[in-house]
Amino acid sequence: MRAQILAKWGSAAGLIAMALFWATLSTGLTEEEPAITAGKLEFGRNCAICHGIDGKGAGPITPLLKKTPANLTQLSKKNGGKFPFWPTYRMIDGREPIDGHGGRDMPIWGDRFRAEAGSLQQGAESTVRGRILEIIVYLQSLQEE
Ligand code: HEC
Repeated sequence: MRAQILAKWGSAAGLIAMALFWATLSTGLTEEEPAITAGKLEFGRNCAICHGIDGKGAGPITPLLKKTPANLTQLSKKNGGKFPFWPTYRMIDGREPIDGHGGRDMPIWGDRFRAEAGSLQQGAESTVRGRILEIIVYLQSLQEE
C-alpha cells in the first residue's frame, strides 16, 4: 500500500517536474525568438549593405569602402570566447568616442535612430536603446565558436 502511494506521488512529481521543464523551455523560446527576428530585420535594413546579411563583412557596397567592415560573427572569438556585449553596444551607438579609434566609417547609429524616433519625443532614448539591443541580440546569435 505504502509503496503504491509512494509510486503514485513519485510519478505525479515527475509529471510536475516535466511540465515545469517544458514551461521554462517554451517561455525561454517565446522571448528570445521574436527579439532575434526583430534584430535580424533591423540588421537587414541598416547594416547588411556593408556587413552582409550573414554579418561576415561582405555587403554589396564593401568594395567602395576605404575600411573593410568587420566580420561580426567573430566578436566572441576575438574576445576570448565571451560576447563583448557593452563594447559592441558602444561601437554601434557611436555617440561616445572610443579611445584609440580615429575616424570611423561606421555611421553613428545612436544619432540616426534618435532622429528617426523624433529627437524631442519623450521615450525617444528608450526607442534608440531598444533598437540597438535587438540588433545585439541578433549579433549574439550569429557568433561562431
Ligand atoms: C557604411 C558601411 C557600414 C554600415 C552601414 C554599418 N557598418 Fe559596422 N562597420 C563598418 C566598418 C568599415 C567597420 C570597421 C571599423 C571602423 O569603421 O572603424 C565597422 C565595424 C563595426 C563593428 C565593430 C566590430 C569589431 O570588430 O570591433 C560593429 C559591432 C559593427 N560595425 C556593427 C554594425 C551594425 C550593428 C550596423 C547597423 C546598425 C553597422 N555596423 C552598419 C561599416 C559599416
